[in-house]
Amino acid sequence: MKVLIIGSGGREHAIARAAAKNPDVEKLYCAPGNAGIAALAECVPIGAMEFDKLAAFSKEHEIDLVIVGMDDPLAGGIVDVFEEAGIRVFGPRKNAAILEGSKAFSKDLMRKYNIPTAAYTNVHSAEEAYEVLEKSHFPIVLKADGLALGKGVLICETKEEAEAGVREIMEVKKFGDAGNTMVIEEFLTGREISVLSFVDGKTIRTMASAMDHKRAGDGDTGPNTGGMGNFSPSPFYTEEIDRFCRERIYQPTVDAMAAEGRPFVGVIFFGLILTEDGPKVLEYNARFGDPEAQVVLPRMKTDLIEVVEACIDGRLDEIELEFTDDAALCVVLASDGYPVKYEKGFPIEGLETFDGLEDEYVYHSGTKFDSEGRIVTNGGRVLAVTALAPTLQEARAKAYKATERIHFANKYMRHDIGHAIDEQ
Ligand code: AMP
Ligand code: GLY
Repeated sequence: MKVLIIGSGGREHAIARAAAKNPDVEKLYCAPGNAGIAALAECVPIGAMEFDKLAAFSKEHEIDLVIVGMDDPLAGGIVDVFEEAGIRVFGPRKNAAILEGSKAFSKDLMRKYNIPTAAYTNVHSAEEAYEVLEKSHFPIVLKADGLALGKGVLICETKEEAEAGVREIMEVKKFGDAGNTMVIEEFLTGREISVLSFVDGKTIRTMASAMDHKRAGDGDTGPNTGGMGNFSPSPFYTEEIDRFCRERIYQPTVDAMAAEGRPFVGVIFFGLILTEDGPKVLEYNARFGDPEAQVVLPRMKTDLIEVVEACIDGRLDEIELEFTDDAALCVVLASDGYPVKYEKGFPIEGLETFDGLEDEYVYHSGTKFDSEGRIVTNGGRVLAVTALAPTLQEARAKAYKATERIHFANKYMRHDIGHAIDEQ
């Protein structure tokens, strides 16, 4: 079978690596891909938002299955376009991808179906927002409604800060049309956990838990990023929490989407926070996380392609997911200055030291070949170094040791990925 993956980051690299393990996959393509993915798949220079070109390519090359990794094309309706063209595709349709594409929609859904989440008000103008702030307690959280590369969330300590935030989001339109509507939300405290799941419209199967590190600097300081590292499983995700989430969050979300006439097929990523009042949903994503995929997929023993096919065919109830007992930890190597301002185009050395290793792997996030055929940095997040080991502590030591084998001019990383393990 021929498989096309859509996206160009570490997440798509992890999807490609998992897909390549299926013996029936004779050819992998990735659009647009990157220099690391190129070792597993033929990279096709078509952008993820060029739906018609991607559909034409899929027809011409008789693609049997398309897996969409990224959020933008999903929210933009790529799955609908492919389905209309008769191409088999894994991911939510536009009317279901709204679960991530509109935070206002997801909050209203949770309220309607009694799924635990922070108290909130949706506002549609700056005036309305200022009025809500008059009656609010601080800190408070402002969220641009639409997709904003994970940056459209502002935590405001004071009313003045919040008013400045409203101006940024709704008047200056820092995040563009994503800020036409805004969610004003109660500030919650607690440990955050990511849980990824497969969904076939009615059945949900959760993958392993993971823990992201969103801030750029050590000790959770600095601006929010797409994620600087991750580990799986999270030791804080207990059986009791799992039971609660199954009853109150996971299946109710899938049922709610079906009841709304928006059956969800694809991956739901639950961003959870463990508050004193129990687990609550911080956000939904309609896709694998990046770098969550880089720690969860290497631990998955069940064949990815089989699960994906079962989701598309609505028979996920026949599948039980299996994971290795090994823990995985990944450290993102970024360009110094990310996520604000950074240089790229620097040659990367040491990648070959990972050749042939199963328990240490470098996923490429932002890399490309330069005109001389060298692999160079090509983004804010450049690589995700992942190690597997029997315990999280060992995986952490191994991953950090492995990062020393990679060199590029402005290499930057956090040194405390997995620090929470020690507080257990
Ligand atoms: P989101 O994109 O909604 O996941 O928000 C990004 C990050 O902002 C989350 O991972 C949290 O760290 C933080 N955050 C979002 N909503 C809240 C909230 N209601 N209370 C506290 N922190 C939040
Ligand atoms: N690492 C968080 C995300 O993919 O949204």
